[in-house]
Amino acid sequence: MTEPAPPYSKFNILYELYYGFRPNKPTFLPQDYPDLTDKTAIVTGSNTGIGLQVMKLLYSKNCNVLSVVRTKSKGDAARDETIAEFPTSKGSITVIGGCDYLDLTTVKPAGSKIKDIIGDKPLNLIIHNAGLMASVNTATSKQGYEAMFQVNVMGSQLLQHFLDPIFLKKDDDLKRIVWVSSGAHLLGFKEYGINWEDPVFENCSVKERPSASTLYGQSKAANIMQAKAWASKNKEKVEEVGCVSVSCYPGNLRTDLQRDWNGWLRSVVGRSLFWDSIYGAYSELYAAMSPKLTTKDQGAYVVPFGGLRDPREDVKVGLTNGSDLKLWDWVNDKIKEFF
Ligand SMILES: NC(=O)c1ccc[n+]([C@@H]2O[C@H](COP(=O)([O-])OP(=O)(O)OC[C@H]3O[C@@H](n4cnc5c(N)ncnc54)[C@H](OP(=O)(O)O)[C@@H]3O)[C@@H](O)[C@H]2O)c1
Repeated sequence: MTEPAPPYSKFNILYELYYGFRPNKPTFLPQDYPDLTDKTAIVTGSNTGIGLQVMKLLYSKNCNVLSVVRTKSKGDAARDETIAEFPTSKGSITVIGGCDYLDLTTVKPAGSKIKDIIGDKPLNLIIHNAGLMASVNTATSKQGYEAMFQVNVMGSQLLQHFLDPIFLKKDDDLKRIVWVSSGAHLLGFKEYGINWEDPVFENCSVKERPSASTLYGQSKAANIMQAKAWASKNKEKVEEVGCVSVSCYPGNLRTDLQRDWNGWLRSVVGRSLFWDSIYGAYSELYAAMSPKLTTKDQGAYVVPFGGLRDPREDVKVGLTNGSDLKLWDWVNDKIKEFF
């Protein structure tokens, strides 16, 4: 067990939630992005929402994008839309379908395809964007785990396991990983955001689970920890290669993430308070490419629409007292049978 988490201020939580709806203006825009000819980026969940906007912006800068999705036909449609929108791009889009984090057996085949496609070329950016925000607390994965933890945390960590050997090479100056988190991490459990006894709720009935927002919050607190833990776990290689691993809260955006909300909530709250999904892409691409972030920023928490802030006080402490590593190891133990 890690040391008990320090308390956090409820006032700060309210302020940070408010900040999410009224964040700073974008600080790093497409005109600031470098040309990405001969660079390769992996974007998960790029068939829709923020991921699609990220793919479009990268492709518009001549990047080769590997679009990792669960439904190939949706990925193909998003690729066609992107290519039609940027006909002069010299980049490419390759869709890797069938990677469904609700079933961990589908991740290894995706990892193998990526390895074959990349070959000896540099892999520059990995954006773990795919995510699930269920409106109910009952969703359970094929492996019998709470669905949001499996999709948002275990799925990304498992894919990263297959990407490590191809990513951790000193082959280019631009080497970043972005673990997409959320301001919703503020709503996670009291101890560093995590229900340490049983993060996947496999030892209790569905009726005993907490609310869907607490479960989503837990998974997004875990994403913040993953960014730091990955860098610490691979410290030597990370220093040699010069890569940077950060988490990112993209903002409160109108996307399919709110697909379960009823019509009233979606139209009134969504339209008045949430931002267009392109703003989420500005945040994620700040995390992926801003020259302001360096190897000193391992595990930093990028906030909308470009910039750094502290996560919840206890989660911040968890990045320095080994809680992040403990979570990483716990997840690794669970996913290693799928390596
Ligand atoms: N929108 C917001 O306000 C907001 C705020 C904070 C953080 N975020 C985070 O931003 C990221 C992108 O969200 P978004 O708003 O763009 O949502 P979205 O429009 O719902 O897109 C989510 C993406 O994740 C994919 N995905 C969902 N379940 C999956 C699974 N089981 N296996 C593999 N892929 C799966 C979806 O694929 P399908 O289309 O096939 O379902 C889709 O491509 C997420 O990590 C989310 O938590 C969003």
